[in-house]
Amino acid sequence: MSPPTHHKRLDDLTTPAFIINRFAFRRNCDLARTCARANGIHRFRPHVKTHKTREGCLIQAGVVGDDGGSHDETPASEVIGFVVSTIPELAMLVEMAGRHNRKEFGDILLGIPICKSKLYAISRLMNELASATNDEGVIHLMVDHARQVEFLEDFIATNSPSPDVKWSVFLKIDSGYHRAGVTCDSRGISVATKIIDSSRLSLRGLYSHCGHSYNVSDNSEMKNITEDDHNVILEFLMLLTDQLKSRESPFDTSLLDVSVGSTASLLCHAMLNIPNNVELHPGNYVFYDRQQLFTGACADESSIAGLVLARVIGHYDDGARNAIMIDAGATALTKEGTPQGGMCAVYGRPDLECYRMSQEVSMIRLMENDNEIPFPFEDFPLGCAVLLIPNHSCLAAACFDTYYVVDEMGDQLSPNSIVVDTWIPVKGWT
Ligand SMILES: Cc1ncc(COP(=O)(O)O)c(C=O)c1O
Repeated sequence: MSPPTHHKRLDDLTTPAFIINRFAFRRNCDLARTCARANGIHRFRPHVKTHKTREGCLIQAGVVGDDGGSHDETPASEVIGFVVSTIPELAMLVEMAGRHNRKEFGDILLGIPICKSKLYAISRLMNELASATNDEGVIHLMVDHARQVEFLEDFIATNSPSPDVKWSVFLKIDSGYHRAGVTCDSRGISVATKIIDSSRLSLRGLYSHCGHSYNVSDNSEMKNITEDDHNVILEFLMLLTDQLKSRESPFDTSLLDVSVGSTASLLCHAMLNIPNNVELHPGNYVFYDRQQLFTGACADESSIAGLVLARVIGHYDDGARNAIMIDAGATALTKEGTPQGGMCAVYGRPDLECYRMSQEVSMIRLMENDNEIPFPFEDFPLGCAVLLIPNHSCLAAACFDTYYVVDEMGDQLSPNSIVVDTWIPVKGWT
């Protein structure tokens, strides 16, 4: 049975609320896959961290939903699996793998460096996935340190009755973001060979995430980042191949999957000149946000699929302020910054800026606020609803436990849009 909010207008909702424009969500997903394919990359492993919903995963995978969905016939890269960041996201996909009988839901990479405390939960989910998929499904873990290899080996040896059981891992490589990942040198290669030598682990692939692309808006600079990403992977593969040859190891590095990308660099990745399977792993592209309007990955506001609905709760018509207050603050939008400055944007109003944010409220004024020009208070009567573009939609969405879904083409989105569905994200940060 539909929750009672369906068929209401956005304007009837209690604020703040998180809004998904399903039309833009679906179009973003279709375009990302067709663009990857046009650039020669045929495999796609989207991240689910941005939305954390079953409905979102189905659209990312290109499954046509009950609502009709899109029947885009343009050649697109194939979704071959997913990346998750948390155990609840992993559990959601394991459940979907059993329910939908589609291979991509059962090929799941837990995409943050593995830690010991999660191993019992992961091992339980591996068993669930095995029985839901007749042993076809696989959960891959992410490794970037020799010690992780050791505690994984200990755990598997202690907890698996059969000595043949091997867990699949991706090795994370630092390609310039300088967050997680081994370096492309003998230290990184020694972690790779430790995995290859392990009787309990199998090295499935190399993974690099070029998150430093988020601060770049120049197209040629963005291309340089993707080329650096590629060059690091190529060099790592060469060093590893040489090292294995010198040890007369039969391991074939061309069988390693290579996973690269980010939303900001999505449109710039070209196929690497290697025989390996190459995949892209973006996440934020489903919603986009102010950050991605900056990078240019998001073409314009009509592609923004994740927004926060708020209400005007204050008018301050005086020399000190000349501004309005809205009922969405850091607990709805977070205080994540963007290169443009400001705390969020008002959808459809580039003349306004959000210049101040507290826990539950924010202040909005004219971009050129010199007190000569009065704020257009008449456009924003007390109680009226406004749509906000978060600086970082992944973090804003995580502030809410229900998403209200509308389906509006182009610039039709407004507080009058009708709620057609509600999506419930999985919660929890373990
Ligand atoms: C390891 C990893 N992979 C993939 C992604 C998805 O990146 P994006 O949201 O830029 O597409 C992220 C995002 O933080 C990440 O941390």
